[in-house]
Amino acid sequence: MVRIGVLGLGTMGNTHLDAYGKIADANIVAVCDIDPDVLSGKNKTEGNIEGQAKGAFDLQSPELKKFTDGMEMINDPDIDMIDICLPTPEHIRYAVAALNAGKHTFMEKPLARTVADTQQLIDATANAKGLNMCALCMRFWPQWVWLKEQVEKQTFGKVLSATFKRVASHPGRGFYLNGGECGGAALDLHIHDTDFVKYLFGMPKSVISQGYSKETTAVDHLSTQYIYDDIPLVTAEGGWSMTDGFGFQMLYTVNFEKATAVFDIGKPEPLMLHQVDKESVAVTCEPEMGYYHEIKYFLECVKNNTMPSHATFADAAESVKIVLAEVQSVQTGLPVSLD
Ligand SMILES: NC(=O)c1ccc[n+]([C@@H]2O[C@H](COP(=O)([O-])OP(=O)(O)OC[C@H]3O[C@@H](n4cnc5c(N)ncnc54)[C@H](O)[C@@H]3O)[C@@H](O)[C@H]2O)c1
Repeated sequence: MVRIGVLGLGTMGNTHLDAYGKIADANIVAVCDIDPDVLSGKNKTEGNIEGQAKGAFDLQSPELKKFTDGMEMINDPDIDMIDICLPTPEHIRYAVAALNAGKHTFMEKPLARTVADTQQLIDATANAKGLNMCALCMRFWPQWVWLKEQVEKQTFGKVLSATFKRVASHPGRGFYLNGGECGGAALDLHIHDTDFVKYLFGMPKSVISQGYSKETTAVDHLSTQYIYDDIPLVTAEGGWSMTDGFGFQMLYTVNFEKATAVFDIGKPEPLMLHQVDKESVAVTCEPEMGYYHEIKYFLECVKNNTMPSHATFADAAESVKIVLAEVQSVQTGLPVSLD
C-alpha cells in the first residue's frame, strides 16, 4: 500500500486528511507542519465550504510519524507519496525536492506564482520516478464532472454561453494577507474557474479582464471574458473582497442550444437542469466533494503506476499562464493574447 506523507496541516491539509480517511486503502504514515501546535492538533483551521476540513483525522495515532521539517519527511525512505498543502510560496521548493527524491507528488493549486516557476516544476518532472498531479479539485467535483460529460457528448447541443462565479470574503490570515505571496484572489481562488474553462473548452485565444485590489496589493476581484472562436460567451468572476459575513458563492450557468444547467453550491439541490418542453429537474450526482475524488483518482494512478490523464503539473501550469494573462489584462485594460 502506498505510504503517504501530508505536508502542511492547515485548511487544505485537514481537507485532504479527511478525504484520505474515507478511502479504504489510503495509508497516511506521516504528517508535517512547521507549527508544533498544528502538528499536535491543538490549532486547527477549517475551510469555507460546509463539511470541509472537519479535522476528523487522528493526529494522536502512535504509528503516525510527525515532522516539523518538510525536507526530512520528503527524504524518509519509508514514504512513497508526498501531498503538499503548503502556502503557495512554498510549493516550488518542496515539490522539486519531492520529485527529485523519487516520490509521487500531489500538490495543491496554484502550482506556482510565475510562468518561470511552473517551468521549473515541469522540468523537475522530466526525470522524476514518481507521478505528479495538481489538486485541481473542480475537475473532480461531481456536478462539474457531469458538466464536462455533457459538453463533450453535446447531449444538449453546443454551448452558447458558460458563466462561472466564485466569490467570498477574504480568509484574513497568514500568507493570504500578502498579495505577492498568495497572488490575490486571481491566482488563489479564481484559478479554479480559469482551469475549468480551459478543461472544458481548451486554451482561450485571449482574455479580457477587469478587476481591482482591495485586501492585498494583487488582484482581489476580477471578471474575465475568455475568447473562443466557437463559443459565443465564456466568462468567470472570482474574488474574495466581499464584506465579512457574505459567505461563499460557487456557481455556474451553462446555456446549451437545448438546455440550461445551473449549479449553485448554496442550494439544497445544487444542480438544476432546464430543458425545452420538459419539467426542470434536479440532477443527482455522486456524493462527496472534489477533494475526495481527486485524491481517490491520484491514488488509483499511483496504484497502477500510470500518469494522470489530466491535472498534471504541465496541465496546471497552463492555467497559471491564463490567470497571469488575466491579471495583465486588469492592469493594462487591454485584451491579452494566449496564442
Ligand atoms: N483546492 C482548494 O480548494 C484550496 C482551498 C484553499 C487553499 N488552497 C491552496 O492550498 C494551499 C494551502 O492553503 P491553506 O489554506 O491550507 O493554508 P494554511 O495557511 O491554512 O495552511 C498551511 C500550513 O502549512 C504550514 N507551513 C507553512 N510553512 C511550512 C513549512 N515550510 N513546512 C511545514 N509546514 C509549513 C503552516 O503552519 C500551516 O499549518 C495554498 O496553496 C492554497 O492556495 C486550495
